Order: sequence, then structure tokens, then C-alpha cells
Amino acid sequence: MDLFRIRGPVRLAGTIAASGAKNAALPALAASLLSDEPLTLRRVPAVRDIRSMLELLEYLDVVSESQNGTLTLRVGGSARSDEAPYDLVRKMRASALVLGPLLARRGHARVSLPGGCAIGVRPIDLHLAGLEALGAEVRLEGGYVAAKTAGPGSLRGARYRFAKPTVGGTENLMMAATLARGTTVLENCAREPEIVDLARLLTSMGAAIDGAGGDTVVIEGRERLGGASHSVIPDRIEVGTYLIGAVMTGGDVTVEGARPADLAPLLQKLDEIGARVDTGEDGIRVHGGGEIRACDVATAPHPGFPTDLQAQYMALMTQAAGVSRVSETVFENRFQHVPELVRMGAEIHLDGSSVATVHGPSRLSGARVMATDLRASACLVLAALTARSETRVLRIYHLDRGYEEMESKLQQLGARVDRISE
Ligand code: UD1
Repeated sequence: MDLFRIRGPVRLAGTIAASGAKNAALPALAASLLSDEPLTLRRVPAVRDIRSMLELLEYLDVVSESQNGTLTLRVGGSARSDEAPYDLVRKMRASALVLGPLLARRGHARVSLPGGCAIGVRPIDLHLAGLEALGAEVRLEGGYVAAKTAGPGSLRGARYRFAKPTVGGTENLMMAATLARGTTVLENCAREPEIVDLARLLTSMGAAIDGAGGDTVVIEGRERLGGASHSVIPDRIEVGTYLIGAVMTGGDVTVEGARPADLAPLLQKLDEIGARVDTGEDGIRVHGGGEIRACDVATAPHPGFPTDLQAQYMALMTQAAGVSRVSETVFENRFQHVPELVRMGAEIHLDGSSVATVHGPSRLSGARVMATDLRASACLVLAALTARSETRVLRIYHLDRGYEEMESKLQQLGARVDRISE
């Protein structure tokens, strides 16, 4: 298993390019199931979750080819499996995104339930209730979701209100509804930029979608969708991670290709705590250097502060002067980085499972720490950059799920990071 050896402290400085968004690329890949014509995707990040999704799609008879950073996907036309088996789904919860497209296009699907996950229970009950509203018959059997309709193309448009906004649920239902008969109205939808990007892709495949990025999305079903060529949006969480790193280390980092509007809640916080933020058409520059002020944060669905940046923000608050409260409202078990930060010398107190109080600034020191999930791992890497002496971050396969070339980007910014195989 690989680990990162990081020698701190260091000041991050320089320019890097944003990678394509993993969380936008995953539903885009699943959308390949909706058409027989080829889908060409640019800026798909080379990360493990994408490889896992490609493996699953291959199993479902989607042939993919990668050339110079462009990925072409096409349904193969050979004997098709409509099953997403446990061994493939357990690696990545986003596998559930094949459910909507399979049902819409082929009339049946069998997808393993994702199972427990490090950051909470994360059910897919709302995805399933939505598909039932479109006329699917859904059963749970032996750890699998077995869903069917009267046949290919026989989902029916309907009105469905999500009990709470879900990113994956909104994406799954949007994809299913593109091939349903009649109009679907989805209410209380998630509004993340990745949903807008998926709607843009589906529209270029010939779908009729209105309102993505807002509370209500209206989809006019089509008989068939065609191929398309699409460029995935930049990864706001990756960008946010490096910007936080710049502030924590008193550095000066520019991320080219980043979209400031997608990162508004973070940029506002960085400004509040005393960093200087410059946004332009083609990137974001953040410089720290002065005192970092402590500032509370509470995660919330977009346009609130992203839960996927909560752990990294907490690492930042360990370097801020004063007391800050970090509240996690999206997932129920997302403070697994706290004990590891404390082992590095941070002063953090947990109040139940949803509020952490951070007393800063702390002089962190290097330690052997364990990555537990994707974003928690990023938080430990950031903490290590400010720590005296050497930190070893174990189990970085979590980082490899979602950060493209993290060590080389950090090295470009002057960090002393190497990957060691143990
Ligand atoms: C997506 C992101 C993930 C991010 C999360 C929230 C991808 C591949 N992953 O995950 O990085 O942290 O959005 O921004 O895009 N819920 C239910 N029932 C459901 C579905 C969700 O109760 O059927 C709950 C979840 O447990 C959670 C909340 O709704 O508490 C939000 O989850 P959701 O938006 O669905 O997250 P994902 O799509 O899994």
C-alpha cells in the first residue's frame, strides 16, 4: 500500500492547473448508457473512481477508449449484462448512477446496494422512490436492487419531490427521465454545479431539460438520445483543497482553469479569515501570509459550504487565531480526521457527531497518520504541510480515488512530498 511522506513546514507557491471534476465525470460516464451513439468526454480526471466506473460500464457492455486525455464511450452491442455486481459497486457508491440509465434504456437493472460507507449510512432510498414515481417496479433482494419496467422506454414522466436534496438522486432521476414518456417535474433538487454540467451534457445528447441548478428541474422525455462531445467542468473540491493549502502555509497559489462562481462559499470564507483572493476569467489566486482569523462554518447543500471541503477547512482552522466551530450537517459521520489531527498536535473538541470546536493556532508536528476517506486524507496532507518534521500519511489509496496527480501538483508548488510503496 502506498503512503505519502511529507516534510514540513513549507510555503506553497506557484501555479497549477485544475483537473476535471470527478463528481461531474462520474454521471457523465453513466450517461453513455443512454444512447447507442458515441459519447466523447474531455477532461475526465485520471483517478481511481473513474477507473472503477469504467470497469463497471465495461461489464454493462460499454466500450471505452482513451486518447490524449479524451475518452470515447459507446455501447458495444454484444450480449448485455444489466447487473452491477457487489464487487464493482462496493468500491464506489456512485455506481448507483447506472440504475436510472439502465432502467430507462433497457427496462431492467440489478444493482448491488452500496453498503456502509466510512462517512455515514448514505442510503439510496430517494433514488429508488423517484424511480418508482416514474413507474419502475423496485424490489430489494439479496443485497441487490432489482428494478424493472414494462420494457425499454416505458418509464412514464411524473412529478416527484425529493424529501431532501440529493446530488446522486437528482442525477439518476434526471437521466432516467430523459427517456421517459411525457414530462417529469423534479422538486427540491440538489443544485450543485455538477448537476448543471450533467444537464448540459444530456442536452447536447438531445434531451430537453429545464431548470438544472435550481430547485425544480423539468424534463421532457425523448424517444432516443444521440451521441455528444462534452468537456467536464473543473473540480471545485480539488481547487478548494489547494487554495486552502495556500492560506494555511502563508503561500501564494494560482489555480488555472478554476471557476470562481462554483467556489463562492469557500472564497467568501477565505476572504473573511484574512486571505487575499483574486478571481479572474481563467483562474483563482489566493495569498495568505498575514494572521489567519478563526471563523465558524456549517456545511450545507450547494450553494452552501461544501461538505467535501469541511475536513480541509478544519485543518486550516488549526492554524487560525481563536476558536472556531465547524458544523457538519450533510453527513452524520464525517469527523474521522479529528483524532488524526489531534495526534499531530491540534486542539479540537467534538460535541456529538456534528460539531467540532477548534482552538488555534496550534504548532503541528509530524506523525504517522491514517487516511480514512477521500477528503479526510486531503485534510491530513494539508496539516502535514504546516507541521514541523516528517509526516507519513498511510492508506493514500483514498486520495487516489479523487485527486489527480496530487503529489506532482504539490511538488510543483514547492512541497516536499513523495509516494512510498510499503
Ligand atoms: C455527492 C458527492 C459527494 C458529496 C455529496 C454531498 C458524487 C459522486 N459524490 O454524493 O462527494 O459529499 O454529494 O455534496 O457526486 N441521502 C438519503 N437518501 C438518498 C440519497 C441521499 O438519505 O437516497 C442523504 C445522504 O445520506 C446524505 C445527503 O442525503 O446525508 C446528501 O447525499 P447526496 O447528495 O445524495 O450525496 P451523494 O450523491 O452520495
